[in-house]
Amino acid sequence: MNILVSGGTGYIGSHTCVELISAGHDVIVFDNLCNSKVISLDRICQITGKRPKFYQADMRNIDSLRSIFQENRIDAVIHFAGLKAVGESVAKPWEYYDNNIVGSLNLVRVMKEYDVKKLVFSSSATVYGVPAIIPITEECPLGSTTNPYGETKKMLERIFSDIQKANPDWHVMLLRYFNPIGAHDSGLIGEEPNGIPNNLMPYIMQVAVGKLPYLRVFGNDYKTHDGTGVRDYIHVVDLAKGHVAVMKKFNDAPGVYVYNLGTGVGYSVLDIVHAFENANGIKIPYQIVERRPGDIDACYSDPSKAEKELGWKAMYDIEKMCKDSYSFAQKAL
Ligand code: NAD
Ligand code: UD1
Repeated sequence: MNILVSGGTGYIGSHTCVELISAGHDVIVFDNLCNSKVISLDRICQITGKRPKFYQADMRNIDSLRSIFQENRIDAVIHFAGLKAVGESVAKPWEYYDNNIVGSLNLVRVMKEYDVKKLVFSSSATVYGVPAIIPITEECPLGSTTNPYGETKKMLERIFSDIQKANPDWHVMLLRYFNPIGAHDSGLIGEEPNGIPNNLMPYIMQVAVGKLPYLRVFGNDYKTHDGTGVRDYIHVVDLAKGHVAVMKKFNDAPGVYVYNLGTGVGYSVLDIVHAFENANGIKIPYQIVERRPGDIDACYSDPSKAEKELGWKAMYDIEKMCKDSYSFAQKAL
């Protein structure tokens, strides 16, 4: 298939391009490079032998999207582009709603204009809020979000579902990611956020390479086995392969399909610190500090629906996730 990947130079997007190309798809990328670098494309090429066609385009500019659809025959869109820093979204709600909502509305409008009816959307486990069921199945009711970033994911799930209802020949795939970490085996692509990281593994990576003196562990009084927050960490390459697996659903009846992409295993912050230390033979100093507002005790998936319907299952364990994160950090940070 000819697949347009929005945000394809970013962390998950670049890994997904590699897996799509390896599976024989043709990939076209657009990105405005606000949180990634164009060199990702060279690295994708080093790994796969193919450089995706690239447009530096901002999805808030509808005409630049039109020219991409005009110049290419596109069968499906995988939509990663968006701003994703939770704390920043609280400080800059206007920017987050404008970028994520207005940009995404432009993208689906242009898809409609060019008769492209297959969409895969990067959603997040954040839509479950404080989850009503653990492990979380796709039937778990959506919860209330605590920040504009999370709200954009919930709103976009609703918007794309309503668009599918009005256009019953569309396929809309809502993929709810749990916590992606790790990097490609080659060490060529990985998570390289511009500015200050806000997720756990990027912080651990900075401590590991000596850029930060210690990790701040946000609270040790959660209702978990050691008091620190529990999450479902998934290797980014496994996550990327989930996108390839979902392509086969395009052969089924049109509709809205929802899948959790996680491992089903929960690890606490201290589990991750110790796994990282054991996998890489280094020490990660840490200090327990105040809870971070909006954090929940535990969040992990029941990924069995994706296994049953897509034949997809995460394969990599926590040791591999920690090793690959560190090898990338040593090269890139
Ligand atoms: P990322 O920041 O590395 O990638 C997003 C890409 O989108 C970046 O390359 C950025 O430059 C681009 N972009 C942003 N706004 C744009 C615009 N207006 N026009 C064109 N390009 C634009 O983030 P990621 O971790 O790869 O996440 C990809 C998607 O998955 C995002 O939508 C994110 O919200 C979602 N997601 C990520 C996680 C996670 O933990 N990383 C978890 C759940 C969901
Ligand atoms: C966060 C976002 C979520 C978003 C996801 C991916 C919040 C409240 N949630 O999820 O909306 O979809 O990132 O971008 O921000 N931790 C520390 N020290 C740190 C960093 C994190 O102890 O320096 C802890 C957190 O308290 C949490 C765990 O590590 O218990 C994981 O945090 P993080 O990587 O930020 O992911 P989430 O909070 O699950």
